[in-house]
Amino acid sequence: MAGVVSSVFRPGLFAGKSAIVTGGGTGIGKAITQELLYLGCNVMVAARKLDRLEAAADEMRSQLKDEKVRLEVAECNIRKEDQVKNLIKTTVDKFGSLDYLVNNAGGQFMNTAGEFSLKGWNAVVETNLTGTFLCCREAHNQWMSKNGGVIVNIIANMFNGWPGMSHSGAARAGVDNLTKSLSVEWAPAGIRINSVAPGSTIFSDTAAQNYGSDTIFKAQIPRVPAKRLGTTEEVSAAVCFLLSPAAAFISGETVRVDGAQSLYSTSIVWEVPDHDKIPPYTWKDDKDGKSKL
Ligand code: ADE
Repeated sequence: MAGVVSSVFRPGLFAGKSAIVTGGGTGIGKAITQELLYLGCNVMVAARKLDRLEAAADEMRSQLKDEKVRLEVAECNIRKEDQVKNLIKTTVDKFGSLDYLVNNAGGQFMNTAGEFSLKGWNAVVETNLTGTFLCCREAHNQWMSKNGGVIVNIIANMFNGWPGMSHSGAARAGVDNLTKSLSVEWAPAGIRINSVAPGSTIFSDTAAQNYGSDTIFKAQIPRVPAKRLGTTEEVSAAVCFLLSPAAAFISGETVRVDGAQSLYSTSIVWEVPDHDKIPPYTWKDDKDGKSKL
């Protein structure tokens, strides 16, 4: 059964607007799509596989209160330049505009850096960094450079590094920096661009399925100052705020939605075992040759 959709923002806030949400059929992306639709925005949801996306789209269409609001789906691997070009073109053709782009699609697998194959590293960087860049560039070149627009990039809590996910941490930090550069380059075109960094405690059924259980989420609660998991709705609210005119003077910014997790701990429970492999450097005492520490 389709669940309830609501928003803290006023109904009709995005009436007549159009958006692309990549990875918009599951988890955080789905919540963003549902809230945008609720607020009157036409949404094109893009994902790599159409079959799962169609089922999610049917559910989201059944929640629509206003029959003028449209939800369309597109198959798009954001790593493929021709598919990204086609996604932007199809959206502009169908909706007549592209006001908002939400780069939510991404993914990674956990491993230590010494174990990464080049193929695995490249796949994560191509999806999370290059794919996001391609979507930004095509949105800019095909529509926003002439008409303005707003972009939100979904990144992650990688601000103190991301042990166990170093490929994704590097790629997301790259998107964080790309956001800053583009906010300056594209301001004269009337484009605002910001990032939202959800903590790793944002709980969704999709994320729990990906990791095989909810244990990995619950284990983090003691390490989050808010002492609870976060919701996909809490991320979506930040995205809708940044897309809205309430954020008209905000660009190049990164908003963390993590209950202060990133100021307190990393996104993975990562213990460093006791060891003595990093000996101190001191001026040795000439008499006994011993270190002071
Ligand atoms: N979600 C995860 N990887 C993706 C990709 N390459 N394209 C679109 N959506 C994705």
